[in-house]
Amino acid sequence: MAEKLRAGVIGCGFFAENHLAAWKHIFGVDLVAVCDLDAEKAKSAASRYGVPEAFSSAVEMLDSAKLDFVDIATTMRSHKALVSLAVERRIPTIVQKPLAPDLAECLSIIGMCEKAAIPFMVHENTRFLNPVRKVKDILSSGKIGDVTFGRVAFRTGHNIYGKQPYLAQEDHFVILDLGVHMLDVARFLFGEAGRLYCQSQSIKPGIRGEDMATIMLDHQSGMTSVVECSYASPIDPDPFPELTLQIEGMRGSLKLDAGYRLSVYADGKAEALDVSPTLYPWSTKPWHGTQESVLRIQQHWVDCLRAGTPVETSGADSRKTYALVFGAYDSACTGKAVTPAY
Ligand SMILES: NC(=O)c1ccc[n+]([C@@H]2O[C@H](COP(=O)([O-])OP(=O)(O)OC[C@H]3O[C@@H](n4cnc5c(N)ncnc54)[C@H](O)[C@@H]3O)[C@@H](O)[C@H]2O)c1
Repeated sequence: MAEKLRAGVIGCGFFAENHLAAWKHIFGVDLVAVCDLDAEKAKSAASRYGVPEAFSSAVEMLDSAKLDFVDIATTMRSHKALVSLAVERRIPTIVQKPLAPDLAECLSIIGMCEKAAIPFMVHENTRFLNPVRKVKDILSSGKIGDVTFGRVAFRTGHNIYGKQPYLAQEDHFVILDLGVHMLDVARFLFGEAGRLYCQSQSIKPGIRGEDMATIMLDHQSGMTSVVECSYASPIDPDPFPELTLQIEGMRGSLKLDAGYRLSVYADGKAEALDVSPTLYPWSTKPWHGTQESVLRIQQHWVDCLRAGTPVETSGADSRKTYALVFGAYDSACTGKAVTPAY
């Protein structure tokens, strides 16, 4: 493999800024091309990030830029068509979450990449957040013993529609947009779930889909977790954009509060840890936690691509996350607990 990997990004919108800044930061990656249907957005991204070529056609970019991989940072309805262009050219591919609007389309994207045997990763960055990694280390060390209960919560009243107006128009909203991250974190920390139950609510007037969801998971280890997602919670101070955690084990417990404060209680002793993310020259508070997680997942991709090893959020792994996401919709719709379709 070449000394420097030639990377191209498709989609130069709101969240792609984080991808672009992270690619520029990663040693051994040459960001050689960007593409957006809106040529002005592509040109602007190219000039701000020092990228030599800007395209308004994904086909033209994929045919001419000699990429070692492509990073698709568009919204979900474009993913299947864009991934199939990359698959036809056998270009290793990263795709932003949510992968697709329904389970069949998610599975079709994953299946295409598996059939072509190209490296593929869903850009599921939340499990790479500094506090989540620190909590995973503590759980793996056995410090709080076997886990009996976990709560993964992201509740906010922040106006997320300012930067992402399209979210107000989705029939499937908070579980697919935000729940996907929280369910992936629950899987990452607690392992697979055999059964789940979900209740969803639509609170904010004018929003098409659900903006609040509470999901209870019965994990194969025997523990229970509760995943809470809300874009309709008037809270002060608002923890946005941070998630919070409460985890109980046989020997102790831990709690992640807003402000990156992690409290660990084990064997009768309490400890307070600061799990703040790194602030890079290109990152800005309060987004620095997310920005660091984007850098980490993209570095992970590069490391795995070079080593020929599987990524954490591969197609096979993501199948399980999306089984929970769409299982939650089934449960909310039927009012019954469901077994995820792994
Ligand atoms: N991981 C996170 O924390 C996080 C946060 C926000 C958004 N996201 C995800 O990022 C994705 C993008 O969201 P966004 O808010 O940046 O959207 P956006 O609408 O701001 O940007 C998407 C861009 O893609 C371009 N585009 C669409 N189809 C294209 C095509 N076929 N070829 C080239 N360009 C195309 C659009 O012109 C637009 O500029 C979404 O899937 C969203 O869920 C993730």
